[in-house]
Amino acid sequence: MPKAFVFDLDGVITDTAEFHYRAWKRLADEEGIPFTREDNEQLRGVSRRQSLLLLLKGRVLPDDQMEALMARKNDYYRAYLSEITPRDLLPGVGAFLREARACGFKLGLASASKNARDVIVKLGIADLMDAIGDGYSVSNPKPAPDLFIWVAGRLDVPPAQTVVFEDAEAGIEAALAGGMYAVGLGPPSRVGKAHLVLPNLDGVTVSAVLNALPEKP
Ligand code: BG6
Ligand code: MG
Repeated sequence: MPKAFVFDLDGVITDTAEFHYRAWKRLADEEGIPFTREDNEQLRGVSRRQSLLLLLKGRVLPDDQMEALMARKNDYYRAYLSEITPRDLLPGVGAFLREARACGFKLGLASASKNARDVIVKLGIADLMDAIGDGYSVSNPKPAPDLFIWVAGRLDVPPAQTVVFEDAEAGIEAALAGGMYAVGLGPPSRVGKAHLVLPNLDGVTVSAVLNALPEKP
């Protein structure tokens, strides 16, 4: 019987991808680097440094210049964060978190973002989380299972009793590699390896998820 639910942030709880896009786009425009919404798709779930490397398309810069560009992008991104309110929770997320909490499940966040804590405070759900794993918690990014294992450890729940909610292929791979249940939110072409695939959390109940999972992850 699962005891904990662990959530990715971007694309699961809220859509920060648009803000990341606008921030990278502003930096790219200022630096004269071509960058489209299509290019941005490759940056989903990818760390800040790796995103910059993709943006630079193989161009190598000294580390101090890399740091300065990342800091500028982050300043732009953080300016957008001030616009986030509880209305930016994706449909069904607030209800699912509250129901899970009322049923006694432990709840955790597992995001690659160093800004994850600030985002969930703005969304008004920080108090519902028993553990927050973010871009500072581990060094190996998804698809390595490290961040999910770290959060499950903080929740004091074994991986086999932890259910991960993810919208990215690398996130599903990470959950499975960690021996956890995986619920994929999005198209089967992206999250089809999960134990359960749903379009999103709109109208989804805790019992519907539990009943659809196999006996063991
Ligand atoms: C992920 C986002 O959650 O966090 C990526 O999907 C982002 O787009 C990454 O690059 C790191 O975020 P931050 O806020 O630490 O730059
Ligand atoms: Mg995501």
